[in-house]
Parts: sequence; C-alpha cells; structure tokens
Amino acid sequence: MSRTLITGGTLVSTTGAVPTDVLVDGETVAALLAPGTGAELAVDRTIDATGKYVLPGGVDVHTHMEMPFGGTEASDTFETGTYAAAWGGTTTIVDFVVQRTGQVVQECLDTWHQKAAGNCYVDYGFHMILGGVDEDSLKAMDQLVDHEGITSFKLFMAYPGVFLSDDAQILRAMQRASGNGAMTMMHAENGTAIDELVRQALARGETDPVFHGLTRPPLLESEAVNRAVTLAEVAGGTPLYVVHVSASQALERIAAARTTGANVFAETCPQYLYLTLEDHLGAGGAGSFEGAKYACSTPLRSKHEPHAADLWKGLRTDDLAVVSTDHCPFCFQDQKQLGRGDFSKIPNGMGGVEHRLDLVHQGVADGKLSLQRWVETCSTTPARMFGMYPKKGVVAPGSDADIVIYDPAATTRVSAETHHMNIDYSAYEGFELRGGVTTVMARGEVLRDGDTFTGRKRRGAYVPRGLSQYLR
Ligand code: URP
Ligand code: ZN
Ligand code: ZN
Repeated sequence: MSRTLITGGTLVSTTGAVPTDVLVDGETVAALLAPGTGAELAVDRTIDATGKYVLPGGVDVHTHMEMPFGGTEASDTFETGTYAAAWGGTTTIVDFVVQRTGQVVQECLDTWHQKAAGNCYVDYGFHMILGGVDEDSLKAMDQLVDHEGITSFKLFMAYPGVFLSDDAQILRAMQRASGNGAMTMMHAENGTAIDELVRQALARGETDPVFHGLTRPPLLESEAVNRAVTLAEVAGGTPLYVVHVSASQALERIAAARTTGANVFAETCPQYLYLTLEDHLGAGGAGSFEGAKYACSTPLRSKHEPHAADLWKGLRTDDLAVVSTDHCPFCFQDQKQLGRGDFSKIPNGMGGVEHRLDLVHQGVADGKLSLQRWVETCSTTPARMFGMYPKKGVVAPGSDADIVIYDPAATTRVSAETHHMNIDYSAYEGFELRGGVTTVMARGEVLRDGDTFTGRKRRGAYVPRGLSQYLR
C-alpha cells in the first residue's frame, strides 16, 4: 500500500481554508498535518501543492450515463462519462437507474450494474427512477433501501406517457419513502399542461428549439414544486429533493417551505447559472436549429428575468444545497437532429460532468459564492444528502482519499476540441474559467497529474449508500 504526502496546499472544507498537509495511506486519508510537520514520515510519493487548494473530490449526484431517452441513448457511457468526470475533479457520481411502467425494479437495477461494473474510472452510486409506481415497485423501494444501497427515488411530474406519475402515485411513493427513510427526488414541471402548450405551439408552426423553453414557463415549474412540497407534507414531512431547479419562482417556493422547517432540499445545475433562453436555446434566431444543443428540461430561462442571479443567491443561502450537472449528453450531428422541424422531439439533455467544479469556481472568482460553499455544494453536501459521508465529501482521517488539487491561478478553456466527454459540441464552448484542476486522486490513486491521465477504468467501484444525513 503506498503512502502519499500532499504538502504546501490550503485545505478547503465547509468550515474554512487552512494551510494543511495531507497524509494518504492506501485508499484513505491517514492524517491532516500542520504544514511542514510530515518531513520525517516515510512516504512513497510527495505531491507539492504550494499555492493550490486541496479539496475533497467532486460528488455529482445527477448523471445519466448511456440512458435510453428521447428515442436515442445518452452519448456518454459509464466509461467515457466517468473518464471525463475524473479529468474535471469529480471522483464520485450518482447515476439514475431507469424503471418504466411494467418493468421489474430489481431487473432494471441489475441492468445498470451490468452497464457500470468494471467500466468506471471513478466510484459510482445509483438512484432509482420510478417511472411506474404500483404495488410491486413500491415494495421494491423497501428492498432497495434495506439491501441494495439505494436510498433515493426520482419521480416525474413531467413527460406524460414516459415517466409522469400522477398525484396519487406520487403520494403513495412518498408515503412509502416516509416509512423506509428514503429521499424522494422530484422532476417538478407540470407535464400535462406543458404538453398542451407544446401541441398549441406546433399547431401554430412554432417548431424552433426556442419553443422548447417557451412552452415550459417558470410558472409550470413553480406550480409543480408547490404540489410536490404539499404532497411531501401530506405524506408526513418525508424529505423532498427538487432536481434541476431553474426558475426564480420555483426557488421561491422551495425557500418558503424551508422557512417553515420542512425537509425540502434542492439542486441547480451550471447550465441554469450561465446559459439563457435567448442566447443559447434561441441561438441563431428564427429558423436556426443551433439551439437544440441547449434543449434540456427544466429549460434554460430568460436573461431578461433574474433567474440566474436568484439561483446564485439560493446557493449562498443554502436554499439550493447542491450543484449537480444533470449530465445527459446527446450529440448534435445525429442525436439532436431527431428534433429538426419539431422541437418536442429534440432529445432533452446536456453534458457537463467534466466542467462542474470549474464553472462553480468561476462563481467564487466572481464573488458570487465563497470558497467554502464551492466545496460544500459540489462535494460535501451531495455526499451527506445522499448517504455517502464521511467516506465521500471530506478530506479527513478515515475518509476515502478522493482529493483534488486545484490551482486558483490557472485558466480553464472549455472546448469540444479538448474536452473528454463523448459529445461533439460543448455547451460552454469558448468559456475561459478562472482556476483549474491540476491533480485528481481517487481512493489514493492519482488519476490525473497535470495533463497526464494515469487512472484505470476498472478502479471505479459501486458505493452502496445509507439514508440521507441532511435531514433538518
Ligand atoms: O433534460 C434533461 N434534464 N434530461 C435528463 C432527464 C431529466 O429529466 O433529468
Ligand atoms: Zn429531470
Ligand atoms: Zn436528470
């Protein structure tokens, strides 16, 4: 077992940024040392982190590797997606197993294990999407919580006929979660109202990608959030985690629930912090299909409204506890083309698993977020929220040695030409971000050392998760 000493860096945690040396022994952190005090220790390797931050590896709790969706399949496999994640300093992902009406939950889980096992560069856990809530899938929830390390279930208020659960199904699943301790994750958009707006838009000949956003207005996000919050309360205050929050109005409803002390939590994603309805989904103007690159749900919001500023504020106040990516990439040249002439057929989703740490660190550089909140929202809280802490999400004795060395003085230039994701475009093409990952260690093994990748794909292991440690 090899021992590594990381010297000269500033350890960033949820409580501060303190000059600290870190001793790694095998797969775990052995000790935190006052700077320079480890000189006498016998180690196999010393990594000089002078002038750099040392932080826990990123934890991205919302990815969809190789997910069948929208008539095609997300273009990153577990292999390519976790490779890209590793480059960007994310050392744990939690991906969504998909169960649809009539499918057996355990069989769906087995399929996801087969996809991931032996193919991942970083550790991975699973949430379960319940697309079909019935007696069997409700029973399976208990089994997954008790025996499979799956303690969170995503339900959809969107996508009628594909994933949507009605209010009765949602209530039943939440009641079950209330009994077994699981976290309910909610895709909160009023899907039946959206489908009607989509039908009306297409009937008017409005087929461009921008109409994907215009037919999913913020009010239909906040209405769904309100309903989800209400149903969770009716189900005994069972914890609720709202995914990919994009609109001010939805965030307001979440904040109001939290003010009452409800167990309501939420995430946002970098696309909602940086990209807009007009400049991205509407790119190229009338008749252009360029915006298809940016079709995701919930959709990008208007730059003429304060959504992005409100989301940054929510990250500061903890009304948004987590930044995940909702990494669900589709290539432009073939997959996104399915929606040419009909925006409703554009496969929904974007890729970003490689750039989350840098995109959120840019918020630190811009004075929108503290260094501590950067680490908290990108690593520590996701680990706690989904029952992986303190194995993940912290650099502390006994924790997995998942460590990122980050240079705040570097510049990261984002481009499809240089990224490692299996996507033929970058949603952040041309972005110049302040800061950059220099070294990535996962369970004691260096995966990335500067521009050299030294990781091994069989190394990523399944992380069975406990119950959320984030209840209030
Ligand atoms: O557009 C998105 N978000 N695609 C992935 C599926 C989901 O709803 O998270
Ligand atoms: Zn969703
Ligand atoms: Zn998603």
